[in-house]
Amino acid sequence: MGALSISLKMYEEGAVSFYAREVEGSSKGPLSRSAAFYNPAMRENRDIAVAAVRWGVSERGWGRVADVMAASGVRALRFAAETDVDEVLANDSNPLAVYVMQRNVRLNGLEGRVRISLGDARVLMYGLAAARRRLDFVDVDPYGTPMPYVDSALCSVRSRGVVGLTATDTPNLFAVYPKKLARVYGVFCRGKPPFFRELGVRSLLGAAARVAAGGGRWLRPLLSYASGHYVRAYLEVGLGASRASDMLEESLGWVEYCRKCGSWKIVGGGVGPPEIGRCQLCGEKMSLCGPLWIGPTVDEDFVGRVADRLPGGSGGEAGWLVSRLREEANLPPLYHDLDFLGGRLKVSSPSPGRVVEELRASGYKAARTHFCPKCVKTDAPIEEVIRAVRGPRL
Ligand SMILES: C[S@@+](CC[C@H](N)C(=O)[O-])C[C@H]1O[C@@H](n2cnc3c(N)ncnc32)[C@H](O)[C@@H]1O
Ligand SMILES: [Zn+2]
Repeated sequence: MGALSISLKMYEEGAVSFYAREVEGSSKGPLSRSAAFYNPAMRENRDIAVAAVRWGVSERGWGRVADVMAASGVRALRFAAETDVDEVLANDSNPLAVYVMQRNVRLNGLEGRVRISLGDARVLMYGLAAARRRLDFVDVDPYGTPMPYVDSALCSVRSRGVVGLTATDTPNLFAVYPKKLARVYGVFCRGKPPFFRELGVRSLLGAAARVAAGGGRWLRPLLSYASGHYVRAYLEVGLGASRASDMLEESLGWVEYCRKCGSWKIVGGGVGPPEIGRCQLCGEKMSLCGPLWIGPTVDEDFVGRVADRLPGGSGGEAGWLVSRLREEANLPPLYHDLDFLGGRLKVSSPSPGRVVEELRASGYKAARTHFCPKCVKTDAPIEEVIRAVRGPRL
């Protein structure tokens, strides 16, 4: 039998050192799917996860958490080294990843607190539920979509526990491939709309909510966002069929939007797609996109407490992201893309800071958004946004 060899490199992140497969390709895009690989671009994702576990330990008494797709184990090691959680499960279905994780646990002297297993994440999560050994928090970080793992993840956490989902299939979520968005997330949208990054977040939340409701569970987003090539959601989960029905009725809906001028309107759902009309601004026939999660995507209190617990403080990519999420937490769904609006209005694209100030001066809520640098969230009607984009008449 031939010997198997992999070349490993030593890395450092947060409080841990670890071996991982050397990374290839650009640091921002999705990287190769080799065993025990490490993607430094996901540090922001892990920094926020560490802060979320710190929150859980101090405010909810969390004792057991897991990364069920752990690769090199960096996330699990960081949960153990940077929080006071009692036990961290680190699982992967790839034997090479498990071998590397075992080395990394020893390297950091965390043998007593990190438990490693080899196997399919779903088998582990359903097994924990069946054995009534449910977790306080489970992190689901696959290649591509987390949808095949959502039901088992929801079952694996105790009542009011939290599930963290990462999705890297952003071309599907952003409706670059509408057929795949429909197949994987059950969301129908003819093509990439101007608010595509928020569409990604709301598609993932809506799909997870439908899976939860089917199993008699409700969920509540504590924090969700889109960054770079991934979408992330932290979902609090509980049992209760009637609350699950209420959740679907209140929080699933549709977006009616105009492909010509970019105006949009949220339409409550619950009982199916609404009738579609014509754009009030330009008269074009509206397009429909949904069903989507139209409820809150961020809990302001949670995001504030996570911000206070970020490893490395408020600086860095995670700090920037969380502070922006905090600012936009109470604004209504969707955002206006000022480049898109400027192009349609044939004016040069205004500074988002100026548009925010003008909308606020007129008495509306407005903020810049983490979704994109030239975008603004507001409760102002589209006519007011257009007025602000055009700027003061000279
Ligand atoms: C994106 S990587 C995880 C990265 C890691 N969580 C981190 O923060 O560095 C995805 C991992 O999931 C593993 N995986 C894929 N399908 C799996 C399954 N069904 N069950 C368990 N692990 C799986 C892969 O072997 C790979 O190591
Ligand atoms: Zn229109």
